[in-house]
Amino acid sequence: MTSLDEFICGAPKAELHVHIEGTLEPDLMFALARRNGIDTGYNSADDVRAAYQFGDLQDFLDIYFAAANVLVREQDFYDLAWAYLQKAHAQNVTHTEIMFDPQTHTDRNIAFDTVISGLTRALDDAKAQLGLSTGLIMCFLRHLDEEAAERTLDQGLEHRDKIIAVGLDSSELGHPPEKFARVFARARNEGFLAVAHAGEEGPPANVAASLDILQVRRIDHGVRSIEDPALVQRLVDTATPLTVCPLSNIRLGVFATMAAHPLKRMLAAGLKVTVNSDDPAYFGGYINENFLAVAAALELTQDDVVALIRNGFDAAFLPATEIAALHQSLDAYVASAA
Ligand code: HPA
Ligand code: ZN
Repeated sequence: MTSLDEFICGAPKAELHVHIEGTLEPDLMFALARRNGIDTGYNSADDVRAAYQFGDLQDFLDIYFAAANVLVREQDFYDLAWAYLQKAHAQNVTHTEIMFDPQTHTDRNIAFDTVISGLTRALDDAKAQLGLSTGLIMCFLRHLDEEAAERTLDQGLEHRDKIIAVGLDSSELGHPPEKFARVFARARNEGFLAVAHAGEEGPPANVAASLDILQVRRIDHGVRSIEDPALVQRLVDTATPLTVCPLSNIRLGVFATMAAHPLKRMLAAGLKVTVNSDDPAYFGGYINENFLAVAAALELTQDDVVALIRNGFDAAFLPATEIAALHQSLDAYVASAA
């Protein structure tokens, strides 16, 4: 480890783009499959890992949705979230906003209540036992229709106190933001904040439409924004955060190599980029591994790393006092590391 690597690992950080279903490690997948009497179609956790070679986003999504079949009981959702929260805590994440895909479960006749009670019980334990602050983001699956998203929103409204925002994930190509204009408007009117995946595989126009039509506060990924200078200027002027996930982008073929990743150019352009893990069980690492990979490939400085961490704090859906406290924790860490 270089001294910058040690700095990264020890620093307090926020994570703003992680799918709880994407934190399902092969070993837990097997344990849950056994507990629930489900055949995963794999012989061992090593076989599962060997299958994680993705040509594109859809390749990944097919495996990711199939793996979620092992999640059945409230305790399964608890165990899934608790494993992630412990890992995040071990990597010095002090605030995390976690996405979940209710439709992946309700479409298998798992009750929305089962999903959200398992997740929130783990989040409550993380607060009490680890001092980790958290939020939940309810995502709509964009390959399904808007009526299905409306029904999901109805279910989410029964748990509005547990959910900070709505999001939009799954297959970006062929399912543009416009498709979800009405359900996002209703979610915002009901008091939810909004985020959306855009400009991952899809064009920069999806980023602009997510801002204009869905009125999102942050863009998830947004890496293809760099192709459109006018859009870059707009994102800079409005200080719109982009939750970038470097290892995900390489594993899904958005960029050929980490050296070709635009994160450093985006930071230099004044974009509010943050570093996140997306689906850490599938893409080869949690938040620290993402930071380490970009720091090495793009020759980041400690100042670059600090700027990325501060962007994550500023972009968090937290009151200003709590954001200030996060910055102070980093001030103290930087002073102690000097
Ligand atoms: N993109 C779209 N949908 C997703 C992703 C992603 O990177 N991860 C989990 N669902
Ligand atoms: Zn994502």
